[in-house]
Amino acid sequence: MPFSRTQVGIVGAGPAGLMLSHLLHLQGIESVVLESRSRQHCEERIRAGVLEQGTVDLLIKTGVGERLKREGLVHHGIELRFAGRGHRIDFGGSGITIYAQHELIKDLIKARLDAAGQVFFDIEDVTIHDFNTTNPTIRFRKGDAQELACDFIAGCDGYHGICRSTIPEGVLTTYERTYPFAWLGILAEVPPSSDELIYAYHPRGFALLSMRSPTVSRLYLQCTPEENIANWPDEKIWQELRTRLESDEGWKLTEGPIIQKGITGMRSVVVEPMQHGRLFLAGDAAHIVPPTGAKGLNLAVADVRVLARALIKFYSSGQTSLLDDYSKTCLRRVWKVQRFSWWMTSMLHRFADDNPFDQRRQLAELDYVTSSRAASKSLAENYVGLPFDDSAL
Ligand code: FAD
Ligand code: PHB
Repeated sequence: MPFSRTQVGIVGAGPAGLMLSHLLHLQGIESVVLESRSRQHCEERIRAGVLEQGTVDLLIKTGVGERLKREGLVHHGIELRFAGRGHRIDFGGSGITIYAQHELIKDLIKARLDAAGQVFFDIEDVTIHDFNTTNPTIRFRKGDAQELACDFIAGCDGYHGICRSTIPEGVLTTYERTYPFAWLGILAEVPPSSDELIYAYHPRGFALLSMRSPTVSRLYLQCTPEENIANWPDEKIWQELRTRLESDEGWKLTEGPIIQKGITGMRSVVVEPMQHGRLFLAGDAAHIVPPTGAKGLNLAVADVRVLARALIKFYSSGQTSLLDDYSKTCLRRVWKVQRFSWWMTSMLHRFADDNPFDQRRQLAELDYVTSSRAASKSLAENYVGLPFDDSAL
C-alpha cells in the first residue's frame, strides 16, 4: 500500500478544511486535504452567502481576499419586515459582505494549489485510525488504496462525514433541536429588489430576500420539511414571495428567471467535546445551525482559526495547552451562535402549533428589537459576528 506522511491530515475541502490548510501553510505547517467530491462539484455547490466582518478581515489579512474585496457587496444593515412595514437594523459602522460560499471555495482552492498545496479530490473510502495514539493514520483510495500518516487529523467533513461517526460510542454527547419547517430557496437572474437583506415575518410564514451579486437574487420561503419541490412551479414561488414580502410602503418585488431551487432542512446540533485524542472536529462536522442567523460558514472559519492557532503553538513550542483547550474555546462561541440562530429562527418563523398569543408575542418581540436601541444593537453585534479574543491570527 503506497504510504505518505504529513503533519496535519484534513478530511474535507469545505470552508473549514481549506481555510485550515491555508492558515497552517502560512506558518510553514504541512497538510494534506482529502475530499470525496470533485473539484467542480465543490466549486459549484450553492450554499451560504453572508460573511461576517471577522471572517472577511481574516481572509484579507491572510491574502485570499482580493476577489472578495472587488466583488463582495458590503452591507451595513438589514431590514426586518412585519405587519407590512420595514424596519432597518443598522450595524453601527461594522458590516457583513455578501460573497457566495462557492466563490470563496474557488479562491481557497486556487490559493492552496498555487502554493503547491496538496488538495486531492475524488477520494474514495476515507477511514481514520489510531487517533488515540501519537501516530494517527488516514486510509483512502485514489485508484489504489493508500495510507497517510500524520501527527493530527482534522475532521472537516461536514455533518454527514465519517470523522465524527468514527469516534467510539459514549465519548460524544449530542445536543439537538429540529424545527418543524424547512426553507425553499431559489436563485434568480434578477437584480435584488433591495440594497440590503430583508427578513420578513408574515402570517403565512417567513420569507428572506438575499442576493449573490448586483444581477442575481437569492430568496427563501419557510415551508414544511416534507415539501416536494416539484409542487412549486416558478409562478407559485413568486406569488408566495410577493405575499410574504408585501409592504404598505410602495416597495415592489422584481421577478425574473429562476435558475436553481431546492429545499433545506433546519436544525440546531452541537456535539461535545469537539476533540478526541488527536482528532479535532471543525465546522459542520461538530455543529449545525439553522440558517436564519447566516452563521454556518462563519462558525466553520471560527473553529479552524482556533485550531490553527493551537497547532501553530504546538509546532513552534511543543506546548499542547491550546490544543487541550480547543473544544472548550470553540464551544463558548458555538453556543452563543447557536443561541442567536435559534432566537432569530424562533422570532421570525410561524410554528404550526402557535396560537394567537404566540403570534402577538412574536410581533411584540419584533417591535421591541426594532424600536429599542439596546435590542437592535444586540442583534447587530451578533449578526456581524462576535469579536475574537485572539490577535495571533
Ligand atoms: P462543508 O462545507 O459541508 O464541507 C465538508 C466537505 O467534506 C465537503 O466538501 C464534503 O464533500 C466533504 N466530505 C464529506 N464526507 C467526506 C468523506 N467521507 N471523505 C472526504 N470528504 C468528505 N449557511 C449559512 O450561513 N447560510 C446559508 O444560506 C446556508 N445554506 C446552506 C445550504 C445547504 C444546502 C447546506 C448543506 C448548508 C448551508 N449552510 C448555510 C451552511 C454552510 O454552508 C455550512 O455551515 C458550511 O459549508 C460549513 O463548512 P464545513 O467546511 O464545515 O463543511
Ligand atoms: C443567503 O444569502 O443564502 C442567506 C442570507 C442570510 C441568511 C441565510 C442565507 O440568514
